[in-house]
Amino acid sequence: MLVDGRPYRSIWSAADGEGVEIIDQTLLPFVFRVVRLATLADAAHAIRDMQVRGAPLIGATAAYGIWLGLREGLSKAHLTAMAAELIACRPTAVNLRWAVERMLAHLVPLPEQERRAAALAEAELICTEDVRTNEAIGQHGLTLIEEIWRKKGEQGTVNLLTHCNAGWLATVDWGTALAPVYAAAAKGIPMHVWVDETRPRNQGASLTAWELGKAGIAHQLIVDNAGGHLMQHGMVDLCIVGSDRTTASGDVCNKIGTYLKALAAQANKVPFYVALPGSTVDWQLHDGVADIPIEERSENEVLFMQGRDEQGTVRRVGIAPAQTRAFNPAFDVTPAHLVSGLITERGLCAASQEGLRQLYPEQVHD
Ligand code: MRU
Repeated sequence: MLVDGRPYRSIWSAADGEGVEIIDQTLLPFVFRVVRLATLADAAHAIRDMQVRGAPLIGATAAYGIWLGLREGLSKAHLTAMAAELIACRPTAVNLRWAVERMLAHLVPLPEQERRAAALAEAELICTEDVRTNEAIGQHGLTLIEEIWRKKGEQGTVNLLTHCNAGWLATVDWGTALAPVYAAAAKGIPMHVWVDETRPRNQGASLTAWELGKAGIAHQLIVDNAGGHLMQHGMVDLCIVGSDRTTASGDVCNKIGTYLKALAAQANKVPFYVALPGSTVDWQLHDGVADIPIEERSENEVLFMQGRDEQGTVRRVGIAPAQTRAFNPAFDVTPAHLVSGLITERGLCAASQEGLRQLYPEQVHD
């Protein structure tokens, strides 16, 4: 996507062939800084501290991390140790495990001296595929937006609500939930996006609002508690969110607060769609609430907020009494029955075992 007229992806291999470059997402929207990753430790740190985040992007970063780490050793034992270190960085988004396992499956059978070049090629392929996948998600999601636009008599705007950031910053390019928005805008459909601020880390306020602004798409930031009210008053035509892990039965795990939006959407008959690549489906799991590990992050993310003061200085401020403790589950699970449908790179389907199996028949093993 374009940033001030210049095309960017969220991650790329450096021109000197020695490292990887990312946009440091902990600094947005205040500072746009490209950071270089040179080692496995750099990649692990970038994932853990959320310089990169979003399920597809952490998978891509881990893939490059394996390449970087092969400088320190080429053996199978080293590969296995790197895989374990990377997978442990963030437990919920399954794309991380998917990408690391794909890298190992590709590299382990090769002679050691071929592994570095092959790792770079495979990491690049994961990125290229991610871009294609998200573009396809955009085109399939576009059909939903076009239908709403037709029903509105092609008048006014299509009002879409999204939670967290599932835009191009969360993937290599295009995004998942925002890919249909970009596709609709490119077709000339007037879009307006309600952006949930997404406490505690404010991915909506700092990332989604930033990338929609750069793309020139109309949007307004709302507090996380506003969505139900807007839906009651007919101000939301459609919700689209992303996913960090989807079970084989269509339960969807996404940023904390997604579940409440799905409940409000169902109560108000607002379509609630989830956009995801096939790599986000954990085919071994069937009960999302019981089985998906939910990352618990530092209580400081709840107790403090970062922002820019009137003088333009970025500061971190406390928002609770000094002795108050906090609890910070980073994701929640929306059961399949609350999801109107899934938007994948292979098309739309019901959020159910049957729906997913129809689109991904190669995953049916019984
Ligand atoms: O904690 P984050 O910022 O990594 O969480 C990201 C999300 O929850 C996204 O909605 C999800 O990864 C889908 S990204 C295409």
